[in-house]
Amino acid sequence: MVVTCPNCKKQHDIDEKRIPVNVKVARCRACGQRFSLYPSEKTDSPDQRPGKAPRKIGVTLSKGGVGKTTTAVNLAAGLALAGKKVLLVDTDTQGQDSYMLGTKPKAGLTELVAGELAPEEIITLAREGLWILAGGKSLAGLKRLIDRKDFGGELTLTEALAPLEDQYDYIIVDTSPGWDPLTVNVLFYIEEILTPVSLEVMALHGLLEFLKSVSTIQRYRKELALRYILPTFLDYRVKHPTDILGKLEKLYSHMLCTPIRYNVTLSEAPGYGQTIYEFAPGSNGAEDYRELIRKVADDPSLFQ
Ligand SMILES: Nc1ncnc2c1ncn2[C@@H]1O[C@H](COP(=O)(O)OP(=O)(O)OP(=O)(O)O)[C@@H](O)[C@H]1O
Ligand SMILES: [Mg+2]
Repeated sequence: MVVTCPNCKKQHDIDEKRIPVNVKVARCRACGQRFSLYPSEKTDSPDQRPGKAPRKIGVTLSKGGVGKTTTAVNLAAGLALAGKKVLLVDTDTQGQDSYMLGTKPKAGLTELVAGELAPEEIITLAREGLWILAGGKSLAGLKRLIDRKDFGGELTLTEALAPLEDQYDYIIVDTSPGWDPLTVNVLFYIEEILTPVSLEVMALHGLLEFLKSVSTIQRYRKELALRYILPTFLDYRVKHPTDILGKLEKLYSHMLCTPIRYNVTLSEAPGYGQTIYEFAPGSNGAEDYRELIRKVADDPSLFQ
């Protein structure tokens, strides 16, 4: 029989005789989504999450400098402009998210986990509808704390955020490059992965290696699914990015987002503590990120 993944729409030809009697759920080899093999039964699609729970999206890829922070900040700010309540969580020791928004929170994720201050004193309002839970150097101590836990360390972030999360429509989590205890924590917390892929040689290799690591977590977390691949640094003047784009289209057509073009204003805005919509609202950068918001919010009428 042929089954279609509800997340990435990839079709799989499965030999029914080889499905054990009590197995009713399959996992898509392309995106990792688990889904019911039998259409009348409930699937695990994130769209079916109950009532008011927020959507939890991690912006993540092990490779550095691909546009994770730029995307996390402008995705969160754009969703807030669209009227959503958004919490942006920075899990990187570089602590760039608050800098990019021109805020200087006095505390952040480390203090929240340590329970040193009340969440209202830590989570900072950065813009209307947009709150930030800051990262920064102190996260190094948090990583050591996670490492020292005998068990359950991977749920540290989940335990800290669970009591607060129903106040938001979206929780956007920015991650550091590489793979460390906090990355694992993020993957145990979020449900949707948005992966920026910078269009350059080796981009696909980096993506596939990362997805291999993600699949080790998906064994324990069936809710975790790759939902969006976002090509970044697209420069139409160069030939090979369009080759890579073609390959991404073949492999991940349904989850592929409209690329973010190379645009210098995106690298200038942080210096002024402004989002791209504030710094250069008419730029290609602002236009491309608005398109991403429409895709993520599944609302083509936004900002039109
Ligand atoms: N589309 C773009 N066009 C031009 N410059 C960009 C674009 N996107 C991001 N930049 C710039 O590229 C640099 C790297 O981007 P960013 O910090 O978002 O990547 P990152 O993946 O978060 O990096 P890291 O892995 O170090 O956290 C930054 O200086 C940023 O301003
Ligand atoms: Mg970053």
